[in-house]
Amino acid sequence: MSNLVEPRHEALAAVVGVIKNGRSLDVLLSAADARLTDERDRRFCRALAFGVLRHHRWLQAQVAALLERPLRNRDQDVSLLIELGIYQLACLSMPPHAAVGETVAVTRPLGKRWAAKVVNATLRRFQREGVVSELGIESPAIEYSLPDWLYAQIQLDWPEACSAVLAAQNARAPMLLRTNLKRSTTAELQARLAEIEVTSEPVADLPAALALEVPVAPARLPGFAEGCFSVQDGAAQLAAPLLALEPGQRVLDACAAPGGKTAHCLELADVEMVALDSDADRLARVDETLSRLGLSAQLISADAGNPQTWWDGKPFERILLDAPCSGTGVIRRHPDIKWLRRSTDPAQLAAGQRRLLAQLWPLLAPGGQLVYCTCSILKQENEAVIADFVQDQDDVTIQPLALPFGRALRYGWQILPGEGNCDGFYYACLRKD
Ligand SMILES: C[S@@+](CC[C@H](N)C(=O)[O-])C[C@H]1O[C@@H](n2cnc3c(N)ncnc32)[C@H](O)[C@@H]1O
Repeated sequence: MSNLVEPRHEALAAVVGVIKNGRSLDVLLSAADARLTDERDRRFCRALAFGVLRHHRWLQAQVAALLERPLRNRDQDVSLLIELGIYQLACLSMPPHAAVGETVAVTRPLGKRWAAKVVNATLRRFQREGVVSELGIESPAIEYSLPDWLYAQIQLDWPEACSAVLAAQNARAPMLLRTNLKRSTTAELQARLAEIEVTSEPVADLPAALALEVPVAPARLPGFAEGCFSVQDGAAQLAAPLLALEPGQRVLDACAAPGGKTAHCLELADVEMVALDSDADRLARVDETLSRLGLSAQLISADAGNPQTWWDGKPFERILLDAPCSGTGVIRRHPDIKWLRRSTDPAQLAAGQRRLLAQLWPLLAPGGQLVYCTCSILKQENEAVIADFVQDQDDVTIQPLALPFGRALRYGWQILPGEGNCDGFYYACLRKD
């Protein structure tokens, strides 16, 4: 490793950016990647930032139990640095003296040399005494590190599966590829990966999927630039096939960016695709994705919930509404979601989801199908939205679904995180009478 302090300092900056400043981990880590020149440093920085954010509340409780006096609010960076040190000692197999010494050294680039003593003393105490199991408050929200409101909601929605969901949210997610079947077969792609010693396995029930044994930067894999595959979780790979696309159909992907499902639709059938997204910058990524894969669609940057501004009046035979949501099904890939979401978000998001559904329904041709999906596990954004819609609307029939993992609900289908080794996802398929 080129420099042992730098990746730790970058990881700390990312964690502080999320916890203190409410910023997105993806954005912070991309900036860190640009500053770190060594690939191993980048991976280490990423592993540290993910680890601390996955276990932040538990680590915070450890720090509180170990410190004789709490640190001042303005020194939150120092307590997060101690969390980083404890994470290395408790969860990573690295020599403890390096973990302590290099973590203490981060106080220098932090400009808080005075903190070296307290960081050192606290980490040494942790080394001597180990994990504090009596934290005073016994709570799964601390054990699994998530805010009380989110724990309470998951417990309420999924009482029997709650512990499994919480554990899966803190586990590492596998890297899955979706073969572009217009350019390659999965067997051909698997063989090309094997040539550079990347081991992958086909995935039962996901015909285009290959699971990589070890994650690798996609651009370093053979066939990426030629558009032979995309990176997409298994649960997301189940959405486009639910549209039962047929060649020539007019299809709307109403919330399309960055284009994973738009591309999947176009790989499944030669359809006339309209891909819409309200975020013009994100829509540019759909353009990039489609060009790389050799696919094309009409791209529109607009509010899907305001069709008067963009719809040409020609009905769609299929609509995909992959609605903006809390992302509570993808926490294992984005642990910052735990700390960025607020308890008021699900209600606000549900109001937006209901608006999009109501505004898009008139655009669907009679006999057409709309697939509603989210990467949320909260019923308020999923089953409740669809139940109310189906009950209020007299030209809709909800189609029964039978997916390989997860569970049928009265309205729709839910995969919880970790089921089938997938992200958490909800799907409902609505037919217009
Ligand atoms: C879950 S993401 C879509 C992911 C995408 N379907 C894929 O598979 O790559 C939700 C998207 O909805 C977009 N969005 C949010 N509100 C919207 C609106 N009112 N109209 C259109 N797009 C919207 C966001 O910009 C975001 O790109």
